[in-house]
Amino acid sequence: METTYAAMTSDVVVVSAAVVLCVSVGGLVWMKTSGGRTTGSSVATGSEKDADDGTRTKLTVFYGTQTGTSERYAREVVAHARARYGDAVRARAIDLETVDAMGAEDALQAETACAVFLQSTYGDGEPTDTSQDFVYWARDAANDGRMPDLLESLTFSVFGLGNRSYEQFNAAAKMVHNALIGLGAKPLLKLHLGDDDQCLEQDFENWIEAFWPAFETKFGLHSDGGDEDLPRYDVVMMDGGDGERAAATQAAKYEKEHSNARVAATATHPFLAPVKVVRELYGNGADRSCVHVDFNISGTSLHYKTGDHLGVFAENGADIVKRVAKTLKCDVDSVFRLEKPIDAPASLPEPFATPMTVGGAIARYVDVLSMPRKQALAALASVASDKDAKKLAFLASPAGKDEFAKYITKPHRSLLEVMEDYPSAVPDLGLFFGAIAPRLAPRFYSISSSPAADKNIVTATVAVVKEKVATGREHEGVASTFLQRAAEGQKIPIFVRTSTFRLPQNPEAPIIMIGPGTGYAPFRGFLQERTALKASGAKLGPAMLFFGCRNKDKDFMYEAEMQAALEDGVITSLDVAFSRDGPKKVYVQDKIIEKASTVYPIVKGTVGKNEGAVYICGDAKNMARDVNKALLSVLMREGDYAAHEAEEILRRLKNEFRYHQDVW
Ligand SMILES: Cc1cc2nc3c(=O)[nH]c(=O)nc-3n(C[C@H](O)[C@H](O)[C@H](O)COP(=O)(O)OP(=O)(O)OC[C@H]3O[C@@H](n4cnc5c(N)ncnc54)[C@H](O)[C@@H]3O)c2cc1C
Ligand SMILES: Cc1cc2nc3c(=O)[nH]c(=O)nc-3n(C[C@H](O)[C@H](O)[C@H](O)COP(=O)(O)O)c2cc1C
Ligand SMILES: *[C@@H]1O[C@H](CO)[C@@H](O)[C@H](O)[C@H]1NC(C)=O
Ligand SMILES: *[C@@H]1O[C@H](CO)[C@@H](O)[C@H](O)[C@H]1NC(C)=O
Repeated sequence: METTYAAMTSDVVVVSAAVVLCVSVGGLVWMKTSGGRTTGSSVATGSEKDADDGTRTKLTVFYGTQTGTSERYAREVVAHARARYGDAVRARAIDLETVDAMGAEDALQAETACAVFLQSTYGDGEPTDTSQDFVYWARDAANDGRMPDLLESLTFSVFGLGNRSYEQFNAAAKMVHNALIGLGAKPLLKLHLGDDDQCLEQDFENWIEAFWPAFETKFGLHSDGGDEDLPRYDVVMMDGGDGERAAATQAAKYEKEHSNARVAATATHPFLAPVKVVRELYGNGADRSCVHVDFNISGTSLHYKTGDHLGVFAENGADIVKRVAKTLKCDVDSVFRLEKPIDAPASLPEPFATPMTVGGAIARYVDVLSMPRKQALAALASVASDKDAKKLAFLASPAGKDEFAKYITKPHRSLLEVMEDYPSAVPDLGLFFGAIAPRLAPRFYSISSSPAADKNIVTATVAVVKEKVATGREHEGVASTFLQRAAEGQKIPIFVRTSTFRLPQNPEAPIIMIGPGTGYAPFRGFLQERTALKASGAKLGPAMLFFGCRNKDKDFMYEAEMQAALEDGVITSLDVAFSRDGPKKVYVQDKIIEKASTVYPIVKGTVGKNEGAVYICGDAKNMARDVNKALLSVLMREGDYAAHEAEEILRRLKNEFRYHQDVW
């Protein structure tokens, strides 16, 4: 990625071909652009060009997000601030992506009165991809210890977004909080950690309820108690032939823009790639499904390396679309246009491209199968009959906390189910897309092919989600079901996300690959790459592959390929754990223990040139943890290390980028 930096004094600066959207946080901020795309985004309340900024309290809400949750919260904080304090506070939401290491000091040292950080954690306790520059800069600057007063004029509060089932719970938020303190900034509140596994929504509410009073006390403000405007778009319905033609023109435009091989495919500008083949990977007797999906990327702007991730924009199924349209009392074929009102609240994002049919928009842009946010319930209440409005408003209120937990969180009730439960609440499309239904996020897949085998093909190996949920309905995973049903030739918006999950530079370095179930995906790419290396005459080092599934006959996917790789010497061992074939459950971690004497020297680094690497891919909740334990016990058993010494060895391996995890 080519990065250019531009100093700014005005709101918009044009640097060569790249447009740079610049935001001043009461001072100087450096913005980062990549290619021709502006990577920054900001929302401000009040007029951008107010001259008397000096007298207004500044509240800057920084967010680090992967799938948009913390961005949504950030927009909400800004909207709250506007409703509560009007012009007395100048609030902005800023993506940490636009605050890079070089600019961070400037951004934070500016006279920003108060900074909020909404920080999400990903991977193995890492900051989100786009906030890594900032977070690691802050951590290193704080650890360095030479600038203990750098941010002494800054007051801040951190709310972390994480999930307690991950080993490194909210690690990135903790990192930010501690780093800011290390740099002299003053915490307004203790660190608040949100847990997705329980109820992130409630945690966020608890934080914000604590935040406003502390903010007011510190900065001598008081709330006007003004009502917040609900974020909504202006809607224009387009009837008959005109509408049809407008929608067709827009569809053709979208297709053209997203099929241009000269424009790099990114999350904000995905490429429409045709599906080459979809095939079932499980055997006949299996009661679950896993599909192999090849995309033909010949002549596209997509390029990838073995081990990267594929981002996929899926669509809701036709049955779901119909049900949503029914709750909206809309015809799926009617055409509409969305516009952002000039005085829209800060929490309203740019609309998606219209004109479009109602059915098309529901299919592509809304997440109706997740639990509704409280803000969505409040918006539904605003259009419901008296009785329903009371109940919905109560659910959305702080007093309705227990009821919300009982009705929404525990049974994992979806937005669609709630709307079906409250048929009197019929929002117009502007309110529905603006305040009620969040955008459908892209899903990621560990690419299971290698360009070394065929640079025109990119493959995803997708386990199809189908599970009974507490409300009695069966949840069909949005993206996995969409891909399972995809037709040959169907064009789907995709993009590639770079990862650090890579084979060692030296093909002779020994490796251990551990990937049960779809965790095998990136290793299929590794095997293809090693096959190509071998064919080109390279000498290959030892490679152990551990795979696991339930039954040999049902879900041992890619068995023939794995066996062939073993016979051809592309891998040196193949150990498969079947958890449901024998009298007792066997998992990959048990196989690792069985192979302790071969595993040990690779982990310890005594084979070859001490550059061996361990790769773990798949389930983050149990597997990665259990495998970690198994590796520790191999070290303790074979090397006679104490527990803390074994942990130190794995830590060193991680620091040397020789212990890789791709877990989800
Ligand atoms: C870096 C990365 C790599 C990945 N690699 C792969 C891969 O190689 N192969 C693969 O198959 N997957 C992979 N995944 C997971 C993948 O991105 C998707 O999460 C997965 O396909 C499910 O998406 P979905 O849209 O089908 O399911 P969703 O509709 O998002 O549902 C997913 C889960 O959420 C829960 N859920 C959601 N809504 C409800 C509801 N209303 N009621 C009850 N439960 C609900 C369910 O527990 C369900 O299992 C990866 C994820 C990441 C982050
Ligand atoms: C692949 C993956 C890895 C994650 N890793 C962690 C983790 O290490 N620690 C943690 O606390 N939460 C982890 N999470 C949970 C997310 O941080 C949490 O769901 C958060 O709400 C996402 O916010 P966002 O939409 O702003 O990106 C992970 C989630 C995913 C999908
Ligand atoms: C939290 O993580 C666990 C384990 O990966 C997962 O089962 C659960 O669905 C996650 N919660 C949310 C809300 O994403
Ligand atoms: C992929 O698409 C290209 C161009 O669109 C086509 O020429 C080629 O035959 C396709 N390849 C496969 C393997 O389907």
